[in-house]
Amino acid sequence: MGSVMLRTLIAGNWKMNGTRDALEEVKHLTRALESLPRTADILICPPATLIMAMASIAGAHLKIGGQSCHAQISGAHTGDISADMLRDAGAEYVIVGHSERRDDHAERSAYVKAQGQAALQAGLKPIICVGEDYNQRVRGETQDVIDRIMRKSLPDLASEQDAVIIAYEPKWAIGTGKVPTPDEIGEVHTLIRRILADRYGRQAQTMPILYGGSMKPGNASEILGIEDVNGGLIGGASLKAEDFIAIYKQAVS
Ligand code: PGA
Repeated sequence: MGSVMLRTLIAGNWKMNGTRDALEEVKHLTRALESLPRTADILICPPATLIMAMASIAGAHLKIGGQSCHAQISGAHTGDISADMLRDAGAEYVIVGHSERRDDHAERSAYVKAQGQAALQAGLKPIICVGEDYNQRVRGETQDVIDRIMRKSLPDLASEQDAVIIAYEPKWAIGTGKVPTPDEIGEVHTLIRRILADRYGRQAQTMPILYGGSMKPGNASEILGIEDVNGGLIGGASLKAEDFIAIYKQAVS
């Protein structure tokens, strides 16, 4: 299938990092963004405690997202945050199914699907993460694993406006400095596009597929140049405004 040119999305996942001091870094980032082209989208998903404050200083270009949400709108779920609450705090996106959530909180794909549906209902764009672990990669099971996780994790769409974003995140590449080869990334992204098309038909062509796992200024431009890679989900290198801007610049150059 020929790929459509999609607007690139550079997304930062701060994970469990950042207190109010980090807002200085965000101010620096928004100032730097003022002089750069707006031909790509840029997003930070900070810890929930910073969403409101960050949304108030983010300016028009920088978008804010959550890192997870509960599958219900409200209720007796101590410690959880609903998609509606994220939206109310100023988020436009939410990451669901990150491998750290799947591992730390035993979130299974059926739950990830419900989270994605809750996000869509709240008017958030869900970023659904999928990826194989190292043993699955060396056993040659990557394609099967991605296929299985995606089919179970993809939400049902209620309208033509609903869209999901997929992040391909090989678990062995997250925070390790290891990155698959461009061919390996390309193969998985092509497969993801095909699975999206099977599931959603033509709507799939406009759904961004991000790569995540040790993306940094030194490899971003090569990764962003791969067919069907429509952006990045960046952990470590999103924490420093300078590095994150350096990646964004490669997306708009
Ligand atoms: P990393 O994390 O860029 O630090 O490898 C990516 C992610 O987990 O989203």
